[in-house]
Amino acid sequence: MDQTIPGFTSTRSKRPEVLFGTRTGGPTRMTRSEGCRVWDDQGREYIDTVMALGAVALGYGHRAVVAAAERALRDGVVGPLPPVLEQETAELLAATLPGGEAVRFFKTGAEAVAAAVRIARTYTSRDRVLTCGYHGWLDWCQDGPGVPKQVAELRREIAFNDPGSLKRAMAEFAPVAAVVVEPVIDAAPTAAWLRALRQATSSSSVVLIFDEIKTAFRIEAGGMAERMGVTPDLMVVGKALGNGLPIAAVSGRRELMEAATQTMISSTLATEYVSLAAARAVLDTYRTQPVIDGIAAAGGRFFAGLDLLVTRYPRVVRAVRGIPEMCYLEFTDEATSSAVALTAAHRGLLLKRTAYNFMSFAHSDQVVDEILVRLESALDAVNRTC
Ligand SMILES: Cc1ncc(COP(=O)(O)O)c(C=O)c1O
Repeated sequence: MDQTIPGFTSTRSKRPEVLFGTRTGGPTRMTRSEGCRVWDDQGREYIDTVMALGAVALGYGHRAVVAAAERALRDGVVGPLPPVLEQETAELLAATLPGGEAVRFFKTGAEAVAAAVRIARTYTSRDRVLTCGYHGWLDWCQDGPGVPKQVAELRREIAFNDPGSLKRAMAEFAPVAAVVVEPVIDAAPTAAWLRALRQATSSSSVVLIFDEIKTAFRIEAGGMAERMGVTPDLMVVGKALGNGLPIAAVSGRRELMEAATQTMISSTLATEYVSLAAARAVLDTYRTQPVIDGIAAAGGRFFAGLDLLVTRYPRVVRAVRGIPEMCYLEFTDEATSSAVALTAAHRGLLLKRTAYNFMSFAHSDQVVDEILVRLESALDAVNRTC
């Protein structure tokens, strides 16, 4: 296998062994995507449920996004001054996100969450943070090789949907600068947990950060905060915001966001305007078309179909995890999950074995039904061998 790129590819979740549990036998590299379909380097066509790890919610190559990006490309991409598009997109985004008064843009989700934590640390003059979920690869939220122990010690994890875990950590780990949570981890959050998060942070002047990188522009434009009516102090969005182009953002209360100017948060290409144009086109599309309803409908149909397959193939799959808009099958074991993903690929379906499969605005009822037919065929084949 090609050794030029350590790990085969720069995006971990796109490695063959992550996708299929094996390095060979499945598609490895692609050339093109459109709507919810993908073509590999052998010219084979697949229906996709991975959707670029949730980075695309309108569908690949969405016409309005492509047109906006092409225009921005022709308009020069970058320059010495901040672009008008930065201001316009910031205003639209702030108006879309709960509690959004001010906005800063970034290129990746990891960078944006790190910036939100830096803002919280600057604002509170505290160092420690509590986290719940995945927040990117940067030092502040990782441990293990290459991450200084002293950095890792500034963070502690709390359990999802567990007010008791939050309460204990807030007491034992004080003083805390921020609590950073992903609002969906294999399940929807309970209203009680979100309420506990809001109350516990407000009462001790801790910054509450919702990492809505997967959930914003998917379950609602304003993510779980909008759906559940709980407003965090800072909200981090990315992925679907650019429909595949590299853009992420932090938004929140103006006086808190001002802390971004008291520390060093800046990058050369934060203001390139191809991605800003794409994000603006995405925001316009969510305002003018029933994107959220479309994703919910596709998700509901997919989720119900998966539920049925769990009852039909109990020796292969145990349960459906997640919520309709982002879900996956829990397989009986690792080998079975690999066999299903590989067999599904051979039947023209790219399916994620772990969190998450994402439905998009491009997944029509007909396509969802075809996904379920191909998946059932793969489950049936694996069921016969196990
Ligand atoms: C909730 C969440 N936060 C942060 C990140 C990191 O984003 P990126 O991979 O764009 O750096 C991800 C990526 O999967 C994510 O799902």
